Amino acid sequence: MRGRWIISECDLEKDLKEILEIEKCFGKSGWTHQMFVRSHGKSDHTCLFVAKGRERNRVEGYCAALIVMEDLEIHRIAVRQAGRRQGVGSALILDTLRRGAVKGAKNAFLDVRNSNVDAHRFYEGLGFRIASRRQNYYSNPREDALVLSRSIKVLKADNGCDTVKL
Ligand SMILES: CC(C)(COP(=O)(O)OP(=O)(O)OC[C@H]1O[C@@H](n2cnc3c(N)ncnc32)[C@H](O)[C@@H]1OP(=O)(O)O)[C@@H](O)C(=O)NCCC(=O)NCCS
Repeated sequence: MRGRWIISECDLEKDLKEILEIEKCFGKSGWTHQMFVRSHGKSDHTCLFVAKGRERNRVEGYCAALIVMEDLEIHRIAVRQAGRRQGVGSALILDTLRRGAVKGAKNAFLDVRNSNVDAHRFYEGLGFRIASRRQNYYSNPREDALVLSRSIKVLKADNGCDTVKL
């Protein structure tokens, strides 16, 4: 069902504790408190969005990204284990793409572990395709990364406003 979540900019002070709980799914390669604060503290180039349930005001998932010129780099996405396969992840990515496009991004990129087949399926369904491979990119455990990418189209509407076509 769509619209069961509210996606908003993360308030690090309020939301980081719950984000770090969800981040545990990455095991040893999970980000720490400092990593989130250093790399995704508020700036014009960073995005850190959280999805919260309308009924239960807790973080169900988050997506962290960085805008570098015309590229939107998606650094992190995770959804609470019990809330997966309900559309939270898709809603987070699509919102991040839209907001990135509004800020001028034309292409989105992300790295995914070669063995993370579930995530490949997820990204493929959202229009991402393999662009390249980075040998031994990940540690804990060491593994190749696949670089996935997709374009983000911004269309000029008749009224002159930009709309994002995903
Ligand atoms: C990847 C992740 C963010 C997806 O979030 P989600 O909220 O479960 O995703 P959605 O419900 O929006 O899934 C949309 C579609 O993606 C595909 N998909 C998602 N998870 C999948 C899985 N485990 N296996 C196969 N396909 C999957 C399905 O096609 C799904 O549609 P369907 O449920 O109607 O079949 C979530 O599984 C997660 O947090 N994983 C652990 C962290 C992680 O691996 N992050 C990515 C690192 S690069």
